[in-house]
Amino acid sequence: MRSHYCGVVDAAFIDQEVTLCGWVHKRRDHGGVIFIDLRDREGLIQVVVDPDTAEIFTIAEQVRNEYVLKITGRVRRRPEGTINPELRTGEIEVLAKDLVVLNAAQTPPFQLDDDDVQEETRMRYRYIDLRRPSMQAHMQLRSSVTQKLRNSLDDQAFLDVETPILTRATPEGARDYLVPSRTHQGSYFALPQSPQLFKQILMMSGIDRYYQFARCFRDEDLRADRQPEFTQLDMEMSFVEEKDIMQTTERMMRELFDSQLGVQLPDPFPTMTYAEAIAVYGSDKPDLRIDLKLVELSEELANVEFKVFSGPASDPASRVAAINVPGGNTLTRKEIDVYTEFVGRYGAKGLAYIKCNDVSAGKEGLQSPIVKNLDDDAIAAILAKTGAQSGDLIFFGAGKASVVSDSLGALRVKLGHDLGRVEEGWRPLWVIDFPMFEWDEGTKRWSALHHPFTAPSSTDLDHLRNNPGEALSRAYDMVLNGTELGGGSIRIHDAAMQQQVLELLGIGEEEAEDKFGFLLNALRYGAPPHGGIAFGIDRLVMLMAGASTLRDVMAFPKTQSASCLLTDAPGSVSDRQLKELGVKPRKPVQPA
Ligand code: AMO
Ligand code: AMP
Repeated sequence: MRSHYCGVVDAAFIDQEVTLCGWVHKRRDHGGVIFIDLRDREGLIQVVVDPDTAEIFTIAEQVRNEYVLKITGRVRRRPEGTINPELRTGEIEVLAKDLVVLNAAQTPPFQLDDDDVQEETRMRYRYIDLRRPSMQAHMQLRSSVTQKLRNSLDDQAFLDVETPILTRATPEGARDYLVPSRTHQGSYFALPQSPQLFKQILMMSGIDRYYQFARCFRDEDLRADRQPEFTQLDMEMSFVEEKDIMQTTERMMRELFDSQLGVQLPDPFPTMTYAEAIAVYGSDKPDLRIDLKLVELSEELANVEFKVFSGPASDPASRVAAINVPGGNTLTRKEIDVYTEFVGRYGAKGLAYIKCNDVSAGKEGLQSPIVKNLDDDAIAAILAKTGAQSGDLIFFGAGKASVVSDSLGALRVKLGHDLGRVEEGWRPLWVIDFPMFEWDEGTKRWSALHHPFTAPSSTDLDHLRNNPGEALSRAYDMVLNGTELGGGSIRIHDAAMQQQVLELLGIGEEEAEDKFGFLLNALRYGAPPHGGIAFGIDRLVMLMAGASTLRDVMAFPKTQSASCLLTDAPGSVSDRQLKELGVKPRKPVQPA
């Protein structure tokens, strides 16, 4: 129907005739002349309808925003003074000779250039929301990112293999979405939380290098960087060690950032152990753009009079740490209260601080609710270890190690943003040497930090059994600017080791056979050493697009309460369907 996209017609087209199709972005009547900004996926163009062409002028008078038009006309230079250097089409306009309304539109529920539209309205009218230039740009970036990744992997002999959506539960730590089976009543499929077990089986099947843009389903609490249904770039390789996976995927990311954003990522990415990440950044996904760091003070404060510090400082399961905020002295009491409330959300019982007015004046130069409880040696040690200068402020966290790390880790990021201490640019890194297990107080059991198929660093089974808390795993996470982009590991390829690990996780032989028998069996029939990784594509595109939520880079995302406002899913089903499935709701179904 058309000769060109609206957004690409520029000065090179002057005096040519073009036929364009698109939506009316805006119509303006100017002293007898009508201007229509016509929009398509590539951008806007200005169309002029002159009263001399009376027939189409009458039509143009009736068009409204979001009408769908087809326009033919000649491209001409805009008059001096009306040129818009921001637009590719900004030097020209199209003088319409023919105009057809392909479809009318009701008044849209919001203006496309209104940046302050309620999320709910955007989701309900997603087709209009997606017409916005910013959303179009996100969809184009996303398509181009997946294309580039696919090409990279094809070049490296990875095979794209599809794995089932109707499957058995995969333990990735979230709740499953279940699908009742009609043919096996009382039995349920689970939607995959990831293709983890299938991709391992593919290695045992001799595929050697696998990838897939895999849809994953996790029924978990949603946040800005979590959706119940999301996409992984899932990969697995045979006969590899950590460095092979890390080098392959780093290179892929470097090429991606170079081609899409003209950004040169470091070569190689730095690596950091999990222990260091927690100690210094309070997080296993440190944002290296922020220079604030946690300083350990447990040793220095073990014997002070102040029980809030000395208690945790002398308990191995606790820690006392501080963050020095350069220039933080200017924070007001009210601001400090807000930060205290903020760390409280992570379970911190308080947020002690010292304002350093004059570090050369001893206690006199410090302003703080706690210095009266600290002796001169402790104060000297705090100042020395944090490197605090006059004008700085030191925040303290004391208590259970995980609470202190989580709360100060989050505070560090918040302070970085609030105080303008986030460096420009891209800071990727690998976090390695994760613990194999973590103790779950709730269930009084060890649970896998990554997933139960991750290989331990040491193959000494006895040692693993006797010291599960000390065991490290062969897992690695790729982190970018404080976001976990991807995670993976070298897998267990030995059936006995796999059984042992499952047993440590409280999964006995019988349960293991029932849930993972197919995997254990496959391990016994010639499983190659293998490992892999999965990247969150939505997260990757979100970061590359500079968006602040996954919802802005997914065409049809779900809301905070895991529903789709466009289609009103999940929805009710008929009694007949339920009967066929042999499913009986505990509560009577509300008629739709
Ligand atoms: P993991 O659970 O770490 O590993 O997931 C890999 C990556 O997927 C992304 N991701 C999510 N993105 C959006 N919404 C979610 N709810 C969500 N959950 C995870 C993250 C994460 O880094 N099978 C293993 C991978 C492996 O071992 O190879 C796995 O799924 O970016
Ligand atoms: P208190 O002794 O409870 O009056 O607290 C004195 C100061 O220590 C206050 O600034 C509290 O915010 C702070 N504080 C209390 N508990 C903790 C804790 N667990 N970690 C860090 N600071 C704390």
